[in-house]
Amino acid sequence: MNHFLSIDQFNTPDNIIKLFHKASSFHVDGVIPDHYKMVRTPYKMASLFFEPSTRTRLSFETAMLNIGGSVITVSDSDQCSGVKGESLEDAITTISNYADVIVLRHSKIGAAAEAAAVSSVPVINAGDGAGEHPTQAMLDAYTIYKHFKTLSGLNILFAGDLMFSRTVKSLVKLLSIFGHNKFHTLPINENAGLRLQEVSRFPDNIDQTNYPNSNLQFILEREKIDVVYLTRPQRERWTGKSIAESQEELLRYQISGKHLPLLKPEAIIMHPLPRNHEICVEVDKDPRAVYFKKQIQAGVFVRMAILQTLLMS
Ligand code: NCD
Repeated sequence: MNHFLSIDQFNTPDNIIKLFHKASSFHVDGVIPDHYKMVRTPYKMASLFFEPSTRTRLSFETAMLNIGGSVITVSDSDQCSGVKGESLEDAITTISNYADVIVLRHSKIGAAAEAAAVSSVPVINAGDGAGEHPTQAMLDAYTIYKHFKTLSGLNILFAGDLMFSRTVKSLVKLLSIFGHNKFHTLPINENAGLRLQEVSRFPDNIDQTNYPNSNLQFILEREKIDVVYLTRPQRERWTGKSIAESQEELLRYQISGKHLPLLKPEAIIMHPLPRNHEICVEVDKDPRAVYFKKQIQAGVFVRMAILQTLLMS
């Protein structure tokens, strides 16, 4: 693996599971043994975020520090030379002289691939517009895998702004490599829907039931859902028109305390975060809610594994 740009770089489950084993080797029940933190390496990671980020950026920076490397960063993309008219290619060509790996977030679909084409060091896609977010998919899949011990035979519900969510696209690509999953989709409305077969390179592995005019309660009453995966309205990508016109539409997929009894005891509730209104705070303390702990922890372990694979293999 020279760059990590898309889940499309993976054709079979083997390399994904191998990465999970590496991520698992970094922790014991979510805690990183001290000996990992002692090792120093000469590697430097440049984090370059041209779109807002809290978790992904800090998770990558934590991961790099955990594997003994160091971090250089542009703390405010408004201070970047892009505002002076510099192209992404020129910025990457320059930064690849400073760092051994570049983590890039950008608003344009394909930006990471463009960066990789000119970079002399590995580039990791930390989100390219409404395109992909492959490391988030890896950490989401790792969270599911750790919980169910498998990535097949699951009933997965994606709810929210599916059309513009890069995390959903990358996770669907990843899960379709494993196959035998049933996907249920509850978009904000038909404008925010997503045909999962069009996303995946393995369309035969996609079994999708779409519920464009339904609500969460209806689905949970009828289906034995294992994974509820919610996403916020990606308003920054709704250029030109508003996808959701009404509060009613936005509330159709909101999960609250009243839905919890409808969920299987072994189900999990996931969100890439940040959340808006789609998860009521009373859900946070339910043991099935994994977004504030297991997903966050997984992000660090999986990114440690990705960085180590790119830098040291
Ligand atoms: C996601 C993203 O940036 O796509 N956040 C993240 O990286 N954890 C989801 C989102 O912004 O809605």
